[in-house]
Amino acid sequence: MRVVVIGTGYVGTVTGACFSYLGHQVTCVDTDAAKILRLQRGEPAIYEPHLETLLRLAAERGGIQFTTDLGPPVAAADVVFIAVGTPPLPSGEADLSYLEAAARSIGAAMDDSRFRVVVNKSTVPVGCGNLVETLVREGMGDARPSGCRGVRFGVASNPEFLREGCAVADSLYPDRIVVGASDETTMEVMRQLYAPLVAQNFDAPPGVPRPSGMTRAPLVSATLTSAEMIKYAANAFLAMKIGFANEMANICERVGAEVTEVMAGIGLDSRIGARFLNPGLGWGGSCFGKDIQALMHTAREYGYESKLLQASLEVNAAQRHMVIQKLQEKLFILKGRSIGLLGLAFKPDTDDLRDAPSLYIAERLLQMGARVKCFDPVALEACRQQRPDLRLRYCQSVRELATDSDALVVVTEWAEFRSLDLAEIASLMAKPILVDGRNLFDPDAALAAGFDYTGVGRCPRPRPAPSPREEGVPARMPAS
Ligand SMILES: NC(=O)c1ccc[n+]([C@@H]2O[C@H](COP(=O)([O-])OP(=O)(O)OC[C@H]3O[C@@H](n4cnc5c(N)ncnc54)[C@H](O)[C@@H]3O)[C@@H](O)[C@H]2O)c1
Repeated sequence: MRVVVIGTGYVGTVTGACFSYLGHQVTCVDTDAAKILRLQRGEPAIYEPHLETLLRLAAERGGIQFTTDLGPPVAAADVVFIAVGTPPLPSGEADLSYLEAAARSIGAAMDDSRFRVVVNKSTVPVGCGNLVETLVREGMGDARPSGCRGVRFGVASNPEFLREGCAVADSLYPDRIVVGASDETTMEVMRQLYAPLVAQNFDAPPGVPRPSGMTRAPLVSATLTSAEMIKYAANAFLAMKIGFANEMANICERVGAEVTEVMAGIGLDSRIGARFLNPGLGWGGSCFGKDIQALMHTAREYGYESKLLQASLEVNAAQRHMVIQKLQEKLFILKGRSIGLLGLAFKPDTDDLRDAPSLYIAERLLQMGARVKCFDPVALEACRQQRPDLRLRYCQSVRELATDSDALVVVTEWAEFRSLDLAEIASLMAKPILVDGRNLFDPDAALAAGFDYTGVGRCPRPRPAPSPREEGVPARMPAS
């Protein structure tokens, strides 16, 4: 099928690359000419594992193109995806201006040569499926004042669930594909488009193996409104689950329990599940905060105040501040202290800094007069460019970060940090204080390495050994 993807950010580029890998003919469109130029050279504008390989494979078979000119590819397309940003406005409402511009341009480019499906992949407030249809019609009308009889199209909502850092695997091997459609013809086009993913009958690309035992991906068909609501409900639940783990961690700290043991204990309950129960600095990124705000805003429009969603936001904000409190407990005065941040990206394996806890922590520490240094394996340059206002010292290695620091804070749980020589790092510091905001390290190992260690919800007292623990229960849940 001929597929157009509008917006070449984290979602659009991965979506385009994956559909091309599955054999569709893809054109990716963006208004950002610099991004398109890079993509034409085969360089993704974002850091995302395996994306460059997938783009190379797609380009080699002539299955993907990049352009700033939306008209010709939309005119030739069977399916047009909208994957533009929907950032939050100060009110919490989603900013739909990019979506509106894209939908109108699609309408202006359509003719009566074929039936097309316009698919909304951006996360949009409930009810936007209808809005997209209206905007496409308006765009059509503006371009052809004489009338657009015979131009046929359907609208679908196909929310995206990929996680940055493992976006390619998430797109090729999804837990589920959700499609809301305006009519059965539209739904049928979407079924055809997704047939290879549903059947899982394609060869796995290099470095991205199919999960063992996966034979199919379920396609959930829903109304437009339900599909939009599924996306918000999923993100609200995940954010709440992390918030719950953080609440439990805060209580564990006070009563002297070890939160990793508590989460392992509850995670084995199949009704709860083990993933997303890692306490720490809380969630960040471009989605959870914005989507919860947008859902609350929609609920409010219908006269409903969601107390649970409000609490999720508040618990998450408090977790970020908890780091400052822990540093104050250890150092008392932060003015003039040298604090090193291990990690800047909002999560590992991405360079995305949107709503990253690191930025909040850096801002607060700088306001309090501390000197802030940072190291991140991939996000240093992004931070330098996006936040020139922050007076951060950018370090090229963890050793440089640690040297003469009064404390280190683990902000992002990059895998490579796990294998650090903790004793060496501690020996380089002015004060070997480690605030482990992601519970990345084993407290005993950190203490043995000479660190004054504090994690999140961790029991500082020596535990009796051997403990009468049930065999086979992991001490820490796998990272989600
Ligand atoms: N990033 C994620 O992990 C993720 C996951 C699930 C869903 N989403 C949702 O997907 C959507 C896209 O997110 P993203 O992170 O990829 O955004 P992004 O900001 O990385 O990319 C958006 C792109 O759209 C382009 N754009 C804006 N207006 C345009 C127009 N009129 N025509 C062509 N291009 C245009 C921008 O230049 C930019 O390159 C959002 O609604 C987001 O909530 C994101």
